Amino acid sequence: MTIRAVEWNTDSIILLDQRLLPKKTEFITLRTIEDVWESIFELKVRGAPAIGITASYGLALWASQATFDSVDKFKKELSVKKDYLCSARPTAVNLFWALERLVSSIRNTDSIEQAQAQLVEEAIRIDLEDEEVCRQIGEHAWTLLKDGDTVLTHCNAGGIATAKYGTALSPFYLGKERGLSLRAFATETRPVLQGARLTAWELQNLGVDVTLITDNMVAHTMKTNSINAVIVGADRVAANGDTANKIGTFGIAIIAQALGVPFYVAAPLSTIDLSTKTGDDIKIEERHPDEIRRIQNELIAPTNIPVFNPAFDVTPSHLITGIITEKGVVKGNYEEALQALFT
Ligand code: MRU
Repeated sequence: MTIRAVEWNTDSIILLDQRLLPKKTEFITLRTIEDVWESIFELKVRGAPAIGITASYGLALWASQATFDSVDKFKKELSVKKDYLCSARPTAVNLFWALERLVSSIRNTDSIEQAQAQLVEEAIRIDLEDEEVCRQIGEHAWTLLKDGDTVLTHCNAGGIATAKYGTALSPFYLGKERGLSLRAFATETRPVLQGARLTAWELQNLGVDVTLITDNMVAHTMKTNSINAVIVGADRVAANGDTANKIGTFGIAIIAQALGVPFYVAAPLSTIDLSTKTGDDIKIEERHPDEIRRIQNELIAPTNIPVFNPAFDVTPSHLITGIITEKGVVKGNYEEALQALFT
């Protein structure tokens, strides 16, 4: 059975609390926009598309509870609440994309009741579309893979980071459906261990042959284990193809190039941001120092040791063999090819 990370429940949102995995599979109920903000900030929900979906439902939830005496006041406050949700995390562009889409969907609506209904409909549409988009990404990924291949992945770009299927993990789901086998190496992904806690758990549940390695084992593993490809997700792809993804991705791309292993980014169009020119323009989130000083709340370093904790890094496009989107695999001149996806 596939677990959905986020589900709309008419007057609330049901969320898989990803901080507790793999020890506990627990669902929480979000009843206010503040609950939604906190869940995104605290990584109860994470992964660019899942953040966008949750925020959309969060804005629709706020709207459904709001009472105003004019549609203009409603729209003004909607925009304030949109900015509030956008402040939860700065790097994953899906958050901004999804909320902008929601606000745009009611631009020409002049009744509050109608706007409330439309916002819920639009959030559901974003959720359902993401499922289909991720499936298509899996289809296109398979044009680059063959039965029996071994893929190394970083962080978690799986079903629980999206509506369903995932981006980087989508070919594993499609492979299972079709009786095609893919082996996986998952990096543990310090500091908060999305690889060890989430990808290892998700792929194991799917029945995939998955091996866990620590982040500093990537070069040796690639050299000694015939890795056919690296596939990672993305939080934001700039117009020139530079890609922000979980911290450590850049290093893996350098290693892949040094060892001649193809390095693919799997990303839906909702993660491609043509208004961000290059990777230098992407804001990189820095998180709490205790994520480094502690592992699962256990102190592993001096209490007050200074820490640098960027949550993401940017892989320059020249290290990326191809970007796997729902519309096909983009290679070569990223500037032109990415632009062409939107026209
Ligand atoms: O901090 P996280 O767990 O939200 O980071 C997630 C990633 O970096 C994923 O690779 C990315 O969001 C793509 S998820 C399909």
